[in-house]
Amino acid sequence: MRASIDYRARSVSQIVKFLAGFIAAFVVVALAATVVILSGVYDVAATVPHTALEELILSSTMRYSVEAHAGNESRETWSEEQVREGFKQYDEMCIICHAAPGKERTDISKGLRPNPPKLAEWAKRWNNAELFWIIKNGVKMTGMPAFGPTHRDELIWDVVGFVRRLPNLSAEEFATMEKQFGKSAGLEQGQHQEQGHHHE
Ligand code: HEC
Repeated sequence: MRASIDYRARSVSQIVKFLAGFIAAFVVVALAATVVILSGVYDVAATVPHTALEELILSSTMRYSVEAHAGNESRETWSEEQVREGFKQYDEMCIICHAAPGKERTDISKGLRPNPPKLAEWAKRWNNAELFWIIKNGVKMTGMPAFGPTHRDELIWDVVGFVRRLPNLSAEEFATMEKQFGKSAGLEQGQHQEQGHHHE
């Protein structure tokens, strides 16, 4: 009887010690983080590259978060009309950061950190539902805007359809699309783009 009470008392005190150690370690880490933040020693300049550790933390946080949030609703096929609509949106809103076949990076794109990837090469990392989620919701602390607040789901799916076409588009084909449907394709086209926004 006595022995078992001793035993219990000892294991309780071990747990208490363990918890105390755990809390102490946590407090030390939190204090250290506070000192680092308040001292201003961390350089937020976009010209300073992320360290390998920051890179790893940011990119894995983004990957797992997108995978966890994207859901299963997806679309696999697009009509030519929808791809064209997607192109117009891309031409208007994405090129400035993500470039396009035959298009050099803009100064804005070059100055951003993290650097917006060329989607023609990078979009294959994501499935369609994930692409949709990224475009609709944006990505915190990267400069990737959310288009959900300004664009209806249908239109965002059109953009996904166009992004899927990007790897197969040559610079010439892209230039032709710009001439036919792009921003500078004339007044009539401007009206089409308006319709695209409201998506009748
Ligand atoms: C102001 C600049 C900017 C604009 C405009 C922009 N993006 Fe982004 N985008 C980013 C940045 C920055 C990232 C994050 C890069 C990173 O951390 O991997 C990103 C990431 C993405 C990703 C994930 C790619 C990856 O693997 O990292 C997709 C897909 C994407 N953007 C699509 C779009 C589309 C489509 C549009 C237009 C509707 C658009 N973006 C407009 C800056 C921009």
